[in-house]
Amino acid sequence: MKVVVTGAAGFIGSHLVERILSDGHEVVGIDGFTDYYARAAKERNVGQARTHSRFRFESLDLSQDDLSSALDGAEAVYHLAGRPGVRAAPMQFDHYLRENVIATHHLLDAVKDMKLKSFVYGGSASVYGDAEVFPTAETTAPAPLSQYGVTKLAGEHLAYVYWKNYRMPVVRLRYFSVYGPRMRPDLMLAKAMQAMYDGRVFDVYGDGEQTRDFTYVTDAVDVTVRAAQRGSPGDLYNVGGGSGVSVNQALDVLTEVAGMQLTRRHVDRQPFDHRRAGASITRARMQLGWEPGTSLREGLERQWHWFLEAQEQKASKA
Ligand SMILES: NC(=O)c1ccc[n+]([C@@H]2O[C@H](COP(=O)([O-])OP(=O)(O)OC[C@H]3O[C@@H](n4cnc5c(N)ncnc54)[C@H](O)[C@@H]3O)[C@@H](O)[C@H]2O)c1
Repeated sequence: MKVVVTGAAGFIGSHLVERILSDGHEVVGIDGFTDYYARAAKERNVGQARTHSRFRFESLDLSQDDLSSALDGAEAVYHLAGRPGVRAAPMQFDHYLRENVIATHHLLDAVKDMKLKSFVYGGSASVYGDAEVFPTAETTAPAPLSQYGVTKLAGEHLAYVYWKNYRMPVVRLRYFSVYGPRMRPDLMLAKAMQAMYDGRVFDVYGDGEQTRDFTYVTDAVDVTVRAAQRGSPGDLYNVGGGSGVSVNQALDVLTEVAGMQLTRRHVDRQPFDHRRAGASITRARMQLGWEPGTSLREGLERQWHWFLEAQEQKASKA
């Protein structure tokens, strides 16, 4: 089967590409190398896939380029391209609109008559904001606290519009704090690793008692593939790894795994940060047969190992 993955050079997308290739499919990976973080990191992410004979890479901007050749003959589309991150969104809202909303609309419109078997939208738990109920189920009314969350919710609703009006087999996911090798450099655990390695002080926002539902990347990829295979069209699924811990606890596990000290300094709580996050994954368990299998300790061990290798490669090139 021919499968298209958008955001193929990104953190989650590059893992997804490798999984679909290992399942025996042909993959076209689309990525526009947006400038949210270094292109070199994205090139490394997709490097392994590029050596595969069943992989083709298309450098395209989903918000404006002609997508017909990349999409031709595809039976499944996974849409993971987007502009992530809550903190930059107020200053760069035009980028967030273009990459999360306009790009999603352009892609949906390009595939609407293609008779796809599945279209998976990679959404975000940020749509919940500070939810009143924990663990939070998909039936909870969304109330994003950030401009980023608003644009991810808009993309999610657009996907729903194409399911309702064009009967596209759309399944939507809400990822909770995905981590693991190739993690985006702007994310908390990636920044903490770098600070620890460099011997720098690490700023923890607020008291560090805010909780997150950390989800290991290959678990997230597994449920993404299951969503395409078994997801109920029009439906939404939370993707949470079950390790609902505070930022302080996650940093404790990280320092134990690394066997290094991390000097922490508590700074002001950031606007747009939600206090608690915890996914109810009953729906994904029941309908998709998914069980996140990686503990936070195991996942951080793998990410730390990858991080050290990446540092060594950097040093050998310097
Ligand atoms: N990482 C997480 O914890 C997390 C949590 C919730 C939701 N998500 C969502 O999952 C998806 C993947 O996240 P990630 O962490 O891998 O981010 P990422 O930034 O590493 O990957 C996104 C990729 O999309 C590409 N892209 C962006 N706009 C594009 C466009 N217009 N045309 C072509 N390519 C474009 C970027 O170049 C990038 O490589 C995003 O949609 C994000 O909103 C991620």
